[in-house]
Amino acid sequence: MPKMSGIETAFCRSALWGRFARDIIVPWSLGGQDLGGDVLELGAGSGQMAAALLQRSPGMRLTLTDIDERMVATARRRFPTSPRLTVQQADSTALPFAESSFDVVLSFLMLHHVVNWKAAVAEAARVLKPGGMLIGYDLTAWSSPS
Ligand SMILES: C[S@@+](CC[C@H](N)C(=O)[O-])C[C@H]1O[C@@H](n2cnc3c(N)ncnc32)[C@H](O)[C@@H]1O
Repeated sequence: MPKMSGIETAFCRSALWGRFARDIIVPWSLGGQDLGGDVLELGAGSGQMAAALLQRSPGMRLTLTDIDERMVATARRRFPTSPRLTVQQADSTALPFAESSFDVVLSFLMLHHVVNWKAAVAEAARVLKPGGMLIGYDLTAWSSPS
């Protein structure tokens, strides 16, 4: 399922998805974990999870990435310029960051869009500092009409 449909793209930008992210997904994914230090989000889309994360952990330095320039542009419009927040176009399978750059890498519902998802996981491991955490969730299977 590499490419998102127009409906999926619109849904990912919707207020309904934003509320679901804030109230359900982020608290469930993080458990009691408070994020700090340098945090990278892969496939951050329009920044719906990031808005919830920033509310919850205002102390972290957050780098948002997505392969889709339209998503990146939407995320840039959503957040005011800040030294604690960077929005950058990047492919999760070839991240433009040095190894051991981040304390935490986040991946929310994006890996199933990446054909070479193993390369994305390897890249996440490469850019994590020793002892860093990869946190996220995804679909493990889906059905398609036959
Ligand atoms: C279902 S959306 C989820 C967006 C966001 N994580 C959220 O939950 O609101 C999946 C996102 O992954 C992005 N994506 C797909 N392949 C990617 C890749 N190889 N590298 C980075 N982002 C990718 C898409 O552009 C899309 O914004």
